[in-house]
Amino acid sequence: MTLRLAHISDVHFGGENAAAVDAAGAWIAEHQPGLTLITGDVTREGARPEFEAARQWINGLACETLVVPGNHDTPYFNLAKRLFAPWRRYERYFGDLPRGAFERPGLAVASVNTARGVQVRLNWSKGAISAGQASAAAQTLAGAAPGALRIVACHHPLIEMIGAPMSGRVRGGRAAAETFARAKVDLVLTGHVHAPFALPYPGGDGRTWAIGASTLSIRERGAPIGFNSLEVESDTVRVTALAWTGSHFEAWRTWSMDRRPRAG
Ligand SMILES: [Fe+2]
Ligand SMILES: [Fe+2]
Repeated sequence: MTLRLAHISDVHFGGENAAAVDAAGAWIAEHQPGLTLITGDVTREGARPEFEAARQWINGLACETLVVPGNHDTPYFNLAKRLFAPWRRYERYFGDLPRGAFERPGLAVASVNTARGVQVRLNWSKGAISAGQASAAAQTLAGAAPGALRIVACHHPLIEMIGAPMSGRVRGGRAAAETFARAKVDLVLTGHVHAPFALPYPGGDGRTWAIGASTLSIRERGAPIGFNSLEVESDTVRVTALAWTGSHFEAWRTWSMDRRPRAG
């Protein structure tokens, strides 16, 4: 039986493409994914009305949802708030961080917050993941039922993607990617770069895939705006990047990847 998932990122409410966002909601109502994962940057600058709009849209989706924060979901232009309470507003709307495992038949998801309110470097909007965060996520997924698809959901791509329109420059990213490959995580879903991609992590058995979703905002970065549809079978995962044409979504690129054979 096919398990369908939707992977949406970087809607950036306050700067969203309203027609595309409405159409994505209609697509979800029509295709009924088992879960929609939203990998951060739900707002443009972490403003209250943007969070209101984001929550209203997400709560109105016709399926279960899982949201992780992005760098735009902390009060963007308020250094004091970013310093002392970076996630207070996000948590008011989407629940406390960090979050435990999300498990459903055939599926286990660990979410990780790779965004920071401030960092000891000029560009605080880049990502960071500690060894503790990575091993906690790996451990969460180690307890998943045999055969379940193991997903890590976070905002920043952990290693740079060749040809991506911007970098994640995630502190600890490479080590975390190695941890996830060793732990036989199946997919690491991310956003941030506003471009869809699917690439295997180096190392491990080559079957841990990094999957990026585009954006549903007006901030295009050289790739069509859109989101990903994932079809999970017992032996394969098919990822389709859907592109917004201005009137509807259509398949832009598809990647098919073999899953690990089940042990025993
Ligand atoms: Fe973004
Ligand atoms: Fe971002």
